[in-house]
Amino acid sequence: MANDDLIIDPWGSAQSTDYDRIIEQFGLSSMEGVSLDSPSKLHRRGIVFAHRDVDQILEAQRTGEAFGVLTGLMPSGQMHLGHSMVVEQVKWFQQHGGDVTIAVADLESQATRGVSLEKGRRVALEEYIAHYAALGLDPDQTNVYFQSTRPVVQRLGFQLGKRTNLNEFESIYGFSGETNLAHVQAPLVQVGDILHPQLDEFGGLRPVVVPVGVDQDPHLRLTRGLAAKTNWFNLRDASSRGLLVSLSVHDENAAVFGQLPNGRVDKAKVAAVFDAVVEALTDLGFSDIMSSPKQGHVHVPSATQRDKHGIRHALLSLERRLGGLGLMAPASTYHHFAVGMTGDKMSSSQPKTTLFLRDDLAAVEKKIKRAFSGGQPTVEEHRRFGGNPDIDVAYQYMMYFFEEDDNYLAEINASFRAGKLLAGEMKQLCVERATEWMSNLHEMRDQTAHLVNDFLAEDSR
Ligand code: TRP
Repeated sequence: MANDDLIIDPWGSAQSTDYDRIIEQFGLSSMEGVSLDSPSKLHRRGIVFAHRDVDQILEAQRTGEAFGVLTGLMPSGQMHLGHSMVVEQVKWFQQHGGDVTIAVADLESQATRGVSLEKGRRVALEEYIAHYAALGLDPDQTNVYFQSTRPVVQRLGFQLGKRTNLNEFESIYGFSGETNLAHVQAPLVQVGDILHPQLDEFGGLRPVVVPVGVDQDPHLRLTRGLAAKTNWFNLRDASSRGLLVSLSVHDENAAVFGQLPNGRVDKAKVAAVFDAVVEALTDLGFSDIMSSPKQGHVHVPSATQRDKHGIRHALLSLERRLGGLGLMAPASTYHHFAVGMTGDKMSSSQPKTTLFLRDDLAAVEKKIKRAFSGGQPTVEEHRRFGGNPDIDVAYQYMMYFFEEDDNYLAEINASFRAGKLLAGEMKQLCVERATEWMSNLHEMRDQTAHLVNDFLAEDSR
C-alpha cells in the first residue's frame, strides 16, 4: 500500500471528506446516473453519493423480489442529527419493500466505550429506537436485536475469522502491534451482523443493503471479501463470449467436491456437482450450457452481464443445498457527512457541533444563531461579494435535514450567493424550519413511544 493512501479508522475522530478520493481508492461506484424511483431528498441532493452493488437492490425493488436492509447503532451517548441520515435511508428502502434488521452494537459499545450491556440496552431503546420510531420506521417491518443475545452473529463472525488474518486487518484498518484485540473482535461481530440476515432462519438468501457513513466502509470491505472467500462457485467472464462457472475448492467443500485427502479425485462426485450446476443453469432458461469437468468449468456462451446476478443467486442456492453457507456480498450506500455547526466536524462529545434530537427549541435557536456562517464579515461586503452557501451551516442544515422543497432551496441558495439574502436572515429561515422539524419530531416521539417494544425481534424482547 502506498504511504499516501487513506486509511479510514471507524473508531477514530478524523473524518475524510475527500469523497472523490474515497470513491477512487476504495472502488466505490458513484450514485451519479443511478436512477431511483421517488428519490428522497438525500438522493436528490447528491448527499448519498456512492454505493457498492446497489443495482442489485434496485433490481429487486423493480421486480418485487425480496431484499433486506441492515444497519447497526452504537448505543452510547445521545442521538443527534447526523445519526438521523441513516434512518432516513433505511426508511426509504423500507418504503420500497425492504425488510429491516437493526443491530444494537452492545458488545462493541461495551468493549470500545465501556458501556455495560444493561445500559446499552436502555440507551438503545430509550434514545435510539424511540427516535427511529418518531422518524417514521415501521415496527412491523423492522427487527431490532442485540449483538450480545444473538449467538449466531458471533458464531458467524468467529467462523469467517478463519478466512482473514492480521495482515489484512493491518491494511484495512491500519492496526499495529498495540491494537487492542476488541478492535479485532468488533469487526468480526459486525461481519456477523451484516451477513446473518441471509441465513435461512433470518429471511434467507436475498440481497441485503447496508446504508452507512463512509467511516464504516472498512467493515464492508472486510465483509464483502470474507463472503466471497466462502463461496463454493466462481463466476467470471469467459475470454471468448459469455460466462464461466468454476469450483472454488476449500476445506469446507473438499469432500463434497470429491477432492480426496490423498490428492486423488473422486470423478463420480465431481460429475455430480457439475450436473447440479448444469441443472441450476438449465432452470434459468439457458440452453447452450457446455460442461467440462476436466477443464474445471461450465461455459454459458449466451450469458451476458445482465445474467450475472441471477446466475450468482442460483449458484448460492445450490451451494446451500450442498451444505455451504451461500453468502452474497452485501450492497452498501454512503452518505456525505453534514458539517458540524461550528464549522468543524460534527461530534457527540462536542455538543456545540450538532443538534441532539432531545435539544429543546431554545437550544436549537441558540445553536443555529451561533453557527458558522458563509456570509461576509459586514453587510456591505455581503451585498457586494455575496455569501457562500456551501459552507454556511444554516443553509447546509436546511439542505441536509429540514427543507423538503428543492425549488425553495435553490432560490435561497441563489439569493445568498448574490448577496441579497443576508447571513442573519438565512439563520432566521433555518431557525424557523428547524423549530418546525424538531417540534414535529418531539410530538411524534410522544405518539410513538408505545411502539418501541414492537421494534424488537422475538429473541430480543
Ligand atoms: N460499528 C457501528 C458504529 O460504530 C455500529 C454497527 C454495528 C453497525 N454493526 C453494524 C453499522 C452493522 C452498520 C452495520 O456505529
